[in-house]
Order: sequence, then C-alpha cells, then structure tokens
Amino acid sequence: MEIKKITTHQLQEMKRRGQKIAMLTAYDFSMAKIIDAAGVDVILVGDSASNVMAGNETTLPITLDQMIYHATSVVKAVRRALVVVDIPFGHYQGSSGEALRSAIRIMKESGGHAVKLEGGSEVKDSVLRILSAGVPVMGHLGLTPQSIYKFGTYSVRAREQAEAEKLYEDALMLEECGCFGLVLEKIPADLARKVASSVKIPVIGIGAGQGVDGQVLVMQDMLGITNEFKPRFLRRYADLHSVITGAVRNYITDVRSGEFPAEDEQY
Ligand code: KIV
Repeated sequence: MEIKKITTHQLQEMKRRGQKIAMLTAYDFSMAKIIDAAGVDVILVGDSASNVMAGNETTLPITLDQMIYHATSVVKAVRRALVVVDIPFGHYQGSSGEALRSAIRIMKESGGHAVKLEGGSEVKDSVLRILSAGVPVMGHLGLTPQSIYKFGTYSVRAREQAEAEKLYEDALMLEECGCFGLVLEKIPADLARKVASSVKIPVIGIGAGQGVDGQVLVMQDMLGITNEFKPRFLRRYADLHSVITGAVRNYITDVRSGEFPAEDEQY
C-alpha cells in the first residue's frame, strides 16, 4: 500500500482543520522505524541527541557531522513522517552563508526534509538565506537550550513582559520570513496560546500548554528510558527504564545459570 507522506503543506492544513500534530524526537534507525509506523506526524532529529545519545550535559557539543549521522539513520527508517533536523550550535549563528552551507549539508547528506534552528531576530538573516535555497525552516523560541549559558537555568522563559513581547514579535517575524512551523519551549501557556492564534503556521509546544497546534517530546523522556529528568510538562507513557533493567537482569540470571540458551535455541 502506498503511504502518503506528511509535508510541510499538510501540517499547515492540519492546523487549519484544528487537527493536532504529534511530533517526537528520534536519533537512530530502529526507534525511528517504530515511531514512524506508529503514526507520528513529525520526527525531529533534535540536538537533544547531545544529551540522550552522547551523554553531554548540554546540546552545545554536538557537531554537524554527528547530527548528519543521526539524521541519515532516521531518514532510512521513515516512510511517512516529515523529518526535521536541528542545525547544531555554532553552525548558523556566525553568518547567513554558514547557515546556508549547514542546511545544504544536512539536506544533501542525510535526506532530511527540513531544518530547525533556535532564535528570533538574531537569526533572521540565516533563516531568510536558508529559505531562499528552498529548504523549509522551523523556528524555535522560548527556552532555547543552545543559549543555556546565557539563561543560566532551564526554567520557564518569557514570564516577564519584555521577553514575552519579544517572543511574540519574533514568532510573527518567523512566519513573515516563511518558516513552515514553530516550536515553543517552556513558556507560559497563555503566551503560547496567543502566539498560536496569531499565526497561520503550526505551533508545536513542549511545556507550552494546551493552546498550541501540536506537541513534541524527547522520545527517551516520554518512554521513561531517562528516569532522572522530571519536569512538570513531561508525561511518561512507559517505564522502559524498569522494563529494560528487568529484561537485562533476567538475561544475566539465565546466562549465569546455564538456562539460556535452551536445546531449541541452538543449532
Ligand atoms: O532537540 C530537541 O529535542 C528539541 C526539542 C526539545 C524541541 O529541540
């Protein structure tokens, strides 16, 4: 059966129809295959790979080559979802030319369908330059983890009026530039609702409440593989940490006792 692929245009139609968009992160072939077949609309190859795959404290160390490696594995698995790839820290802030070169490398080498980058007016030139090459861009405002050393904490952003006003203006600007969608991370729900109702492009929230057009979570968090990260916005849909620990303990016991392999598990 032919599978109808999700496009940026379809996501905008989903918003128009009031149909919520489900987005999750993935970084490897096996997991991407499962979540794509389960029906997720957008797969984000997030730079959160730096945390959950590489074990770094922040998203800053991950390189463009590493992001392309993760994205290439994900793209091979995906039949239906739109694959969005984060441009990592240091690969778009320097100049719009550098941003364009990074986006082109991601699109050419990984086969991803779109890129995402963090920030508002500061990255406008980069956004416009990438879009001018025909590469779809998703914006990301609010808690932008690549700026963690400027913020100092991972707490809720845009509680103060000045920051909320800037975020609102940045969202309008990103839509005006031609971004196909926007992620809002960890901001007050009222502000996220106001942004989502002011723009025609889909707004995907993470810790941004109910009034947006879709939700995104980091897969390792929602599956309960990571078990120490417990922000209020995170709903765990499974406890894979316990499931995996139990399975591995059973395996160790069976190997040590000689219970595994059995007669019918050998040649
Ligand atoms: O890198 C990431 O996983 C993200 C999401 C948290 C939106 O940017």
